[in-house]
Amino acid sequence: MNEKVSSVRLVAIRILESILLNKGSLSTQLARKQTDVKPEHIPQLKEICFGVSRHYPKLNSFALHMLDKPFQEKDYDVYAAILVALYQIDYMDTPEHAAVNEAVESAKLIGKPWAGKLVNAILRRYLREADDIKAIMKEMPSVAHVHPKWILKRFNKHWASDFEQIVEANNARPPMCLRVNFSRVSRETQMEKLSQQGIENEKGEFSESAIYLKQAVSVQSLPGFFDGDMSVQDEAAQLSAFILAPKEGDKVLDACAAPGGKTGHLLESADIHLTAVELESWRLAKIEENLERLAFNAELICADSGDLDSWWDKTGFDKILLDVPCSATGVIRRNPDIKINRKPADIDELVTIQKQLIEKIWLTLKPGGRMLYATCSLMPEENEQQMASFLSQTKNAKEITLNVSWGKKVSHGIQLFPKQNSHDGFYYCLLEKS
Ligand SMILES: C[S@@+](CC[C@H](N)C(=O)[O-])C[C@H]1O[C@@H](n2cnc3c(N)ncnc32)[C@H](O)[C@@H]1O
Repeated sequence: MNEKVSSVRLVAIRILESILLNKGSLSTQLARKQTDVKPEHIPQLKEICFGVSRHYPKLNSFALHMLDKPFQEKDYDVYAAILVALYQIDYMDTPEHAAVNEAVESAKLIGKPWAGKLVNAILRRYLREADDIKAIMKEMPSVAHVHPKWILKRFNKHWASDFEQIVEANNARPPMCLRVNFSRVSRETQMEKLSQQGIENEKGEFSESAIYLKQAVSVQSLPGFFDGDMSVQDEAAQLSAFILAPKEGDKVLDACAAPGGKTGHLLESADIHLTAVELESWRLAKIEENLERLAFNAELICADSGDLDSWWDKTGFDKILLDVPCSATGVIRRNPDIKINRKPADIDELVTIQKQLIEKIWLTLKPGGRMLYATCSLMPEENEQQMASFLSQTKNAKEITLNVSWGKKVSHGIQLFPKQNSHDGFYYCLLEKS
């Protein structure tokens, strides 16, 4: 057996086991465990972990069809080994028998030799019966659309006419999108520099600062990246700074700030005094890193932004970006582990957290100030319904209509759906305090 591949496989199994056990997101697990493989093997590790997560609803249905009973949590490592092998058989160029043998070998390496026989039997059955299994299951929504059934139901209920586009975009690989730092350089100059380095690119349609790359590259090869000339950021996410449009001297709050993509963009937009609040200290460090690269200063606070007494000095803000924690159902293609772990109850919990944050953060806005509420969710409960409820109970809040060429106007705010080879799914609603 190829030793390098087996070590990538083992790390992939450990990462996927943690995700199956809901012990953190794929991006967090990858950041933690990718150092366990050689740097040149990281792309392969990502390919397996992202691939299994992206195709999980389908692979899981096939595996469950072949199992007498589902695996118990204590053996999710064995289940992860099976899912990895199914992914390799169907989507990678690993020879079928190598995929089976390596999965059996993995059972031994994770200290469960008893599972080798079972793993072997299931995977050999799959090699024999894959066509029949796929034919039997092809009408199942989770197999046909490769999403959990409950998410499909909600997409269909709320966005029937956009359903196909949403699902297709969520299942595709996301494009790499860059944001040009207008305070340093123009989009045309950066496009030219990229082309000179042989990096094919084209400009974004909706954000003036967006450039799409035909093929993803490492940030090291981006001209001026370490000097802060550009950042990696989705095009829909870039719209927030244009909508909020801070002016020179404004006192601006970024209330849920990490990893600081939008923080950096706000600072690039105008010479402002920015306060960035973030709950998680390890994520606050990401903002620091970002601002250091972009050479900007901001007041960074680690706090629950809803707990005003713990961080607010009672001076009102002119502009606020409230980019709340959400279901991330508009960015499933970037976080495909959502297909494994997100549950309907999470939406209700998130709606409650968002409601509390909106009500508290609103208090920190000056009269005449503006607050942009943002999510990367496609669930109306987190978006237009959340805004409808806030507007109906808050006398000094009014919505500012966004006259823009992008997205779908909904009862309150604008909903963007993820588009293949284009932007992510997002939601924006701009409010003003009277
Ligand atoms: C959607 S992300 C923000 C993305 C960020 N605006 C950007 O563009 O890079 C939401 C962030 O809010 C943080 N968060 C969640 N609850 C919070 C709270 N009560 N106070 C402050 N930050 C919070 C999360 O840890 C997470 O980093």
